[in-house]
Amino acid sequence: MSQVLVVKHPMVQDRLTALRRVATDSGAFREHMAAVAAMLFYEAARDLPVVQETIETPLQLTQAPVLKSGLVLVSVLRAGLGFLDGILPSMPKARVGYLGLARNPKTLEAESYYANLPKIVPEDQVFVLDPMLATGHTVIHALKQVEAAGARNIQLVTLLASPEGVANVQKAFPHIRIVTASIDSALNEKGYIVPGLGDAGDRLYGTLGH
Ligand code: URA
Repeated sequence: MSQVLVVKHPMVQDRLTALRRVATDSGAFREHMAAVAAMLFYEAARDLPVVQETIETPLQLTQAPVLKSGLVLVSVLRAGLGFLDGILPSMPKARVGYLGLARNPKTLEAESYYANLPKIVPEDQVFVLDPMLATGHTVIHALKQVEAAGARNIQLVTLLASPEGVANVQKAFPHIRIVTASIDSALNEKGYIVPGLGDAGDRLYGTLGH
């Protein structure tokens, strides 16, 4: 079974609590989302390969580690954009892909409306970013697209997961690690994670009620 890393760090959990609060407005929501994404990504990236380079400090030449090239971030629209905002500043060399997937509210199945992935080779380290792992349908669709594009080293970085979503992803992709801040209690009948934080895309972009 794939490994699930629940990041219990108090700074992560404090941001998550702010995101859960219904009173948090879109501006603050975006800020908290970006901050927690950076922290979750930091954990996900802990074992990224480095190479030693000879560099010159003001004092002397020395050997120092730099991240190996071959990093790819794939943002699942829309809510993945809120994650990407927090991660991209610390990963300036990453190539970025976008997958537009919408949940059909009746079937809860994912439907693709946009795909723009960079060239991916098997050696690349690929991080799929989607804050909400609910039924798992959207994420599984995204992971299939990323694997079909050639990715072999993939991690899923998410903020909140449901037990069902985790189980479904683990079944479909036993080799993919899931990094999350919480596995919540359940999914409700509309496919929302509970207690959750509501619709992440709507809360990020102020489209609640549309
Ligand atoms: N997507 C969201 O934005 N929120 C949920 O609770 C489930 C899916």
